[in-house]
Amino acid sequence: MKDIQTRADLEKLLASFYQKLLADASISYLFTEVAQIDLEEHLPVLVNFWEGNLLGGHNYKGNPMGPHFTLHQKSPLGTNHFKTWLHHWTETIDELFEGPMADEAKSRARSIALLMQHKIEQAFGPLNEAN
Ligand code: HEM
Repeated sequence: MKDIQTRADLEKLLASFYQKLLADASISYLFTEVAQIDLEEHLPVLVNFWEGNLLGGHNYKGNPMGPHFTLHQKSPLGTNHFKTWLHHWTETIDELFEGPMADEAKSRARSIALLMQHKIEQAFGPLNEAN
């Protein structure tokens, strides 16, 4: 298996990751019913984000925290949502890639997820466990 090296690798990773998220009823409703994302628009934004994070790209212009604050206000995020998100992320990477960049993608996601939970708790109070 190869490592994550190109934007095309990230496109493949994000597409597979979203297949898993959207097939998991414990989290998919946040994308389909609450945020009502258009996958065709959303996926390239995520690819830009990860390209910036891992491959030194400069296409992501945004603040990854903001949309999750809005989401939490519409429908509370719980610690289990983050566990589920990270589980699918890690599993998708392990199925497709192997190497230092793949490891980095997993550990960065863990750090960002922790920071995200921390910021949501600072702003809105403790997260519940429940999904
Ligand atoms: C409980 C776990 C999570 C859920 C349910 C979730 C859900 C969502 C949803 C619904 C959106 C679209 C919001 C909108 O455009 O209205 C979004 C955007 C995004 N998410 Fe998450 N997310 C989670 C965790 C994470 C984590 C841990 C990361 C990073 C490691 C992340 C990165 C992003 C990015 C980069 C965007 C795009 C932000 C933008 O439009 O600039 N998400 N997420």
